[in-house]
Amino acid sequence: MLDIAQQFGTPLYVYDADTIVEKINQLRSAFATVDLKIKFACKALTNISILQLMRQNGVGIDVVSPQELALGLHAGYQGSDITFTPSGVSFDEIETAVAAGAIINLDNLSVLQKFGEKYGNSVPCMIRIKPNVAAGGNAKIMTAHEGSKFGIDIRQRDEILQIVNQYDINVVGLHQHTGSDIKEAEAFVRAADIIFEFAASFPKLQIIDLGGGFKVSYKEGDPITAMPELGAQLSEAFHQLSQKLGRKLQLWFEPGKFLVSESGVLLVNANVVKPTPNRTFVGVNSGLNHLIRPMMYGSYHHIVNVSNPVSTHTHTYDVVGYICETDTFAEARTLNEVHENDVLALLNAGAYGFTMSSQYNSRFRPAEVLVYQGKAHLIRARETMEDILRNQILLNIQ
Ligand code: LLP
Repeated sequence: MLDIAQQFGTPLYVYDADTIVEKINQLRSAFATVDLKIKFACKALTNISILQLMRQNGVGIDVVSPQELALGLHAGYQGSDITFTPSGVSFDEIETAVAAGAIINLDNLSVLQKFGEKYGNSVPCMIRIKPNVAAGGNAKIMTAHEGSKFGIDIRQRDEILQIVNQYDINVVGLHQHTGSDIKEAEAFVRAADIIFEFAASFPKLQIIDLGGGFKVSYKEGDPITAMPELGAQLSEAFHQLSQKLGRKLQLWFEPGKFLVSESGVLLVNANVVKPTPNRTFVGVNSGLNHLIRPMMYGSYHHIVNVSNPVSTHTHTYDVVGYICETDTFAEARTLNEVHENDVLALLNAGAYGFTMSSQYNSRFRPAEVLVYQGKAHLIRARETMEDILRNQILLNIQ
């Protein structure tokens, strides 16, 4: 890592392709007995080289905006490999995605109605259901409870069927996504049961899409979604469903974090070590502008002193960013002794790291590197002042 930091500079996101491929294989082997399709929730990490790696490994993508759709096409995906799962977008966006050949997850009755009016039964679609199951790492990342804006409430099933029948809409899939950082296999099974039950109402159904949300390990001993156990339980229920309906269905998942979180680190430089009477700060050349998860969700990201990996001398630090507001990566964290200009790695930064970064404080976003077949490749150049000025217009006020 130190050599990569030296070669490309910091702050730097570094992803490991082998780890991503291993995760794909773990998911596939947990669901080996069903017809499984993986659609990477690319909002977690949209670099086109990562999307290309997914494609090479037979993984489709789930997109939430026309821009993510365009990135997918840019990375070589066919429209038919792409699912569009938007939330509250204008109908134009849905038309754009249909024109590109993507399959749409419709998540509102009025949109379903418009879809029926416009396309009748000529374009297959999926319906996103809100099963009213509360699960996820924290309230901000739960998406299927009663108060959530996502999906069509399962209690509106009659209205859904009425619209589908009125326009003979070709519903080939049912979708639900419960939330993020869900550790209990039981929550997935509970939500799946609700979808499975509704499935019988759609004679042309081919796909059940259970979204993403698998919990990854952020620190040692952290509970995670037990993939083999989840695979066994859900596959069994899925086989029963196929049997009940008398035909084979595909099972889709849209993991984001599970596929890429552990593959990525954010490398930063310790600009200053600042002892004070009650704590010692380490101020690094990054902040909530590059990795917002700690400040936004209180997320834990393990930190390793890459420059001092085997020291027996540890110390407790507050690791803070350089943004001019409270900007804490970690409070009271024990690290191998940190000296100014040491390189620190924030782990589990592959998902929702770069994609949620900003130019706040008019700072450049980090560069990105992918370690692929043993070699570090630059996959996004560091920004420059041109990027900050791009699209700004100086009025020349005198
Ligand atoms: N499918 C849909 C429809 C989603 O909305 C999401 C995530 C996923 C799949 C993937 O979920 P995952 O497997 O990554 O948990 N920024 C937050 C997470 C927000 C998740 C939004 N939706 C974080 O950094 O924790």
